Amino acid sequence: MADMPLVHAVNVTKSFGDNQVLKGIDMDVSKGEVVCFLGPSGSGKTTFLRCINQLETIDGGRIWVDGELMGYQDKGGQLYRLHDKEVARQRREIGMVFQRFNLFPHKTVLENIIEAPIQVKKENKAEATARANELLDRVGLSDKPAAYPAQLSGGQQQRVAIARALAMRPKLMLFDEPTSALDPELVGEVLTVMRELADEGMTMIVVTHEMAFARDVADRVVFMDGGVVVEQGDPRQVISNPQHERTKTFLRRMQTEHEQIVAAVADPLHGPRDS
Ligand SMILES: Nc1ncnc2c1ncn2[C@@H]1O[C@H](COP(=O)(O)OP(=O)(O)OP(=O)(O)O)[C@@H](O)[C@H]1O
Ligand SMILES: [Mg+2]
Repeated sequence: MADMPLVHAVNVTKSFGDNQVLKGIDMDVSKGEVVCFLGPSGSGKTTFLRCINQLETIDGGRIWVDGELMGYQDKGGQLYRLHDKEVARQRREIGMVFQRFNLFPHKTVLENIIEAPIQVKKENKAEATARANELLDRVGLSDKPAAYPAQLSGGQQQRVAIARALAMRPKLMLFDEPTSALDPELVGEVLTVMRELADEGMTMIVVTHEMAFARDVADRVVFMDGGVVVEQGDPRQVISNPQHERTKTFLRRMQTEHEQIVAAVADPLHGPRDS
């Protein structure tokens, strides 16, 4: 167990009704590693992240995080579902940031960040507040503790969401397309925070369409399609020299979309529809 990677997933399967969404995923992520997941819509990327932190139960296979079997107890090869309280405890170790910043709208930035440490981890308020201010500083929002989410830009809200996840001192951070709901000019500030987090040694799994981020920050890129891992490896190698036809097709399509966005930002009157 001691030399198990931080995330160790073995033959994970998951269906919704007749639709098998994960068809036997094997995935290891080492401590401190940054892994970017790419793949077309519906390929199972979100589902896999949700299985890691037990927002979904799995049908087959096993997932360990930091040596702990997620969601189940193994008694002589037979799996028994853990009590909700135990699952909740496991999930506290994992931070998740979604596409849409799901902050509490009626709480200030500071209240959003200290809520879980106080309610769930029973930290005292002064301690949690000090830590929240530190985290706000880290994500470049030290002037915003009293603001309400609606008063912030999407990029600022997403940075608060990251600070809020970090306030629980997670072992692992999962990001599900954290920049894809943002206006293009706000993407960079969120990616910068994520890059710093990676540099500090956080273990991260990031579903993203940001190729430059994947190429420059990830230690490994994983390409998923149809519920399987089609290929994975060094980011430059997978992105610049993919081996599989499905990866090539996907990357070509991403490239075209990217060029259209760049053109639309540069020339707002003649966006993608006109080109
Ligand atoms: N709760 C659910 N109930 C039924 N089907 C679901 C559910 N969640 C996901 N699916 C289906 O599982 C498949 C994979 O979905 P998933 O969200 O994991 O894909 P994805 O790779 O994250 O796609 P995207 O890039 O669009 O976010 C899809 O066919 C989707 O419709
Ligand atoms: Mg998704």
